[in-house]
Amino acid sequence: MAMQPIVTLFERSSAAPGPGLSPRLKEAYGGDLCLPLPTSRPVYVAANFVTTLDGVASYQLPGQSGGGAISGFNEQDQFIMGLLRSLTDAVLIGSGTLHGDAGHVRIPEFVYPRLREEFRSFRQAILHKPIHPLNVVITGSGEIRLDEPTFHTPELSTLIITNETGRRRLRRDHGDALAVTQVRTVAGGGRVSPSDALKILREEFGVERLALEGGPTLLGQFLAEGLVDELFLTLSPHVAGRSEADARPGLIAQMAFLPENAPRFDLLSLKMAHSHLYARYQRRAA
Ligand SMILES: NC(=O)c1ccc[n+]([C@@H]2O[C@H](COP(=O)([O-])OP(=O)(O)OC[C@H]3O[C@@H](n4cnc5c(N)ncnc54)[C@H](OP(=O)(O)O)[C@@H]3O)[C@@H](O)[C@H]2O)c1
Repeated sequence: MAMQPIVTLFERSSAAPGPGLSPRLKEAYGGDLCLPLPTSRPVYVAANFVTTLDGVASYQLPGQSGGGAISGFNEQDQFIMGLLRSLTDAVLIGSGTLHGDAGHVRIPEFVYPRLREEFRSFRQAILHKPIHPLNVVITGSGEIRLDEPTFHTPELSTLIITNETGRRRLRRDHGDALAVTQVRTVAGGGRVSPSDALKILREEFGVERLALEGGPTLLGQFLAEGLVDELFLTLSPHVAGRSEADARPGLIAQMAFLPENAPRFDLLSLKMAHSHLYARYQRRAA
């Protein structure tokens, strides 16, 4: 059965230059979509998340920690995720997302296999990009499961960005098996600063547009540095709740803003299918 079309409820006219979507992708999305090229910073960053009505981003339950459980495996949400992957040069996640949603590979056709050939031809024939976006994982500790399918998917390039401590741990744990991925190291032993990560992605890997897929900890850091240009946020019509025993993360974690410095966004579009809402926000300049 064909996917119920996404209905556009509101759309601010956008002057973003670019080739736009293929007719089939445009029809499924209920309109066109183009991410701008970066202007003032090295990489244009579009974050993509789904939360419940009460703002929960993960049930934090074994096997049900990912965004799929939050959206109820909503087909349109999965399509939009595939679409954003197909529009970007790289997908970035933290190690918590790699392991928390084990088995997931961040390529368009993994999350929305129905349009596998369409995504592939769109990237290659229209955008002139490699078949898959580079998959990038950030880690400080270097505790990475290299048996994740991400590191063993044909035609998929992967990259781990870490610090010196993380690099030592990766070498110690994996030895020659580390050759399945590329690794880049920033100086020091603490967190990798998001701007350092973006500099590496642009200068060494030619990344201009990035899909930031989480998780909440990494998103908080990118927001704190003012590095999120757009936020694609699916609002799932579920309520997950929280308790002392189940301290489920919200959209961001490990980061708290004040009313005077809370990042603000403007609505670019609002779409719906069934009872899910798909909002596209643009960061408001400080
Ligand atoms: N609903 C959604 O849309 C959505 C989206 C994404 C994820 N999720 C879910 O959220 C959960 C994960 O949440 P999370 O906040 O833990 O995810 P996360 O941000 O992907 O991972 C956090 C971990 O990544 C590493 N890390 C993050 N930022 C770093 C930095 N700047 N430098 C170095 N290392 C860094 C750190 O671990 P190490 O140093 O130990 O490597 C950190 O503990 C999962 O269940 C996932 O499925 C939901």
